[in-house]
Amino acid sequence: MQHVYITDFGRHDGEEVQVKGWLYNRRSKGKIHFLQIRDGTAIAQGVMRRGNVPDEVFETADRIGQETSVVVTGTVKEDARAPGGYELQLTGLEVVAEAQEYPIALQEHGPDFLLTHRHLWLRSKKQAAIMRVRHRVSMAIREFFDGRGFTLLDTPMFTPAACEGTTTLFEVDYFEDEKAYLTQSGQLYAEAGALALGKVYTFGPVFRAEKSKTRRHLTEFWMIEPEVAYADLDDIMQLAEDFVCHIVQDVLEKNRKDLVDLERDMERLEAIKAPFPRITFEEAHELLVKLGLDHEAGDDFGAPHETALGEAFDGKPVFVHRWPKEIKAFYMKRDPDNPDYVLGVDMIGPDGSGELIGGSQREDDLELLLSRIREEELPEEAFQWYIDLRRYGSVPHAGFGLGLERTLGWICGREHIRECIPFPRMLHRIYP
Ligand code: 4AD
Ligand code: MG
Repeated sequence: MQHVYITDFGRHDGEEVQVKGWLYNRRSKGKIHFLQIRDGTAIAQGVMRRGNVPDEVFETADRIGQETSVVVTGTVKEDARAPGGYELQLTGLEVVAEAQEYPIALQEHGPDFLLTHRHLWLRSKKQAAIMRVRHRVSMAIREFFDGRGFTLLDTPMFTPAACEGTTTLFEVDYFEDEKAYLTQSGQLYAEAGALALGKVYTFGPVFRAEKSKTRRHLTEFWMIEPEVAYADLDDIMQLAEDFVCHIVQDVLEKNRKDLVDLERDMERLEAIKAPFPRITFEEAHELLVKLGLDHEAGDDFGAPHETALGEAFDGKPVFVHRWPKEIKAFYMKRDPDNPDYVLGVDMIGPDGSGELIGGSQREDDLELLLSRIREEELPEEAFQWYIDLRRYGSVPHAGFGLGLERTLGWICGREHIRECIPFPRMLHRIYP
């Protein structure tokens, strides 16, 4: 008998097939069991009628608990009322391993309980849907950059110095009294890559010892960082806009069923089309004040400010560019029209998703970069290689970083981004 995955039922209408999976749920009505079977690709309804299977099989189906692993056989039948459009008229069921009393019932549990059982929680319909969307977004990202001639550059996880501020560094013991830090961003290495290869991107985990317990913060998350030689601030805003549109379109096209399972408002995503509005930091400040929010001129934005800005433009992400230099990183290029500002940009997403992208044009002037490193009291020795990039054929260059889990939180409509990574790492949580 042919083993078939549930997502492929459409190609097997009328055929008797085998499905290998787990019992997700069961309802019984007299002489019929409705068995929800999941196989990792989707969930299908299997209908078992007494008389169509041996009596002991019918009784086994009545007895086994949720998440028992089973191999079932049955005929695929198109049925508009069935979830997924097909049901399986069961002719056989074989138990592979009976599950003990399953801790995660199909009704509500608190977040702590679910996070402690993350290894099992991943089997739930919505969680599996998020993981499939995560896979899709990862593929869309690789296709996007590959299609534009970028080279994927894998940057190190152990680094000798900070990239995004010294307060969020995880320190680790390296050999012989040496200290190393888990990388906060691959950007500085991506800059070296861009000067070698023109257009590069990194795609990997980064670490922030962030003591914030918000719904948008993880201590380990994945970032995608393109870096382009001879690009300026406008060029990378354009790149970021094309990039985000591509990701959203690809998920809408290929993972519609997952978005339905997640009860995501699809019209909100369909409205994500270029161009995205672009405003300066000063304009953003004025807008916040006009909207009645408390915001001191020159201060960084907090969560409520980001949420308000993300809602202010008809559900479209907004670029906020040209920031006060005090609140941005040392490597951002000063604005030639106003030295109090840097050519940085954040893209703030709608639906409460917050800052999805942070980027900038980079300081390409040797002396200005040195003075910024000294002002921030960063260890100059550890940055010599980075400063070299300004000594040997410096060029204007720019790039940005997109947070994968924040982007997924937005696309999947999740309140907390911890659901958007298989095993989240947060303040006070490292199990399982
Ligand atoms: O704004 P950030 O800190 O920028 C950088 O790291 C730059 N080096 C990127 C670059 O220019 N190449 O981080 C970039 C993005 C944020 O916009 C956000 O989406 C995400 O990373 N991010 C986090 N996601 C989850 N948890 C956290 N603690 C995050 N911190 C930042
Ligand atoms: Mg940022």
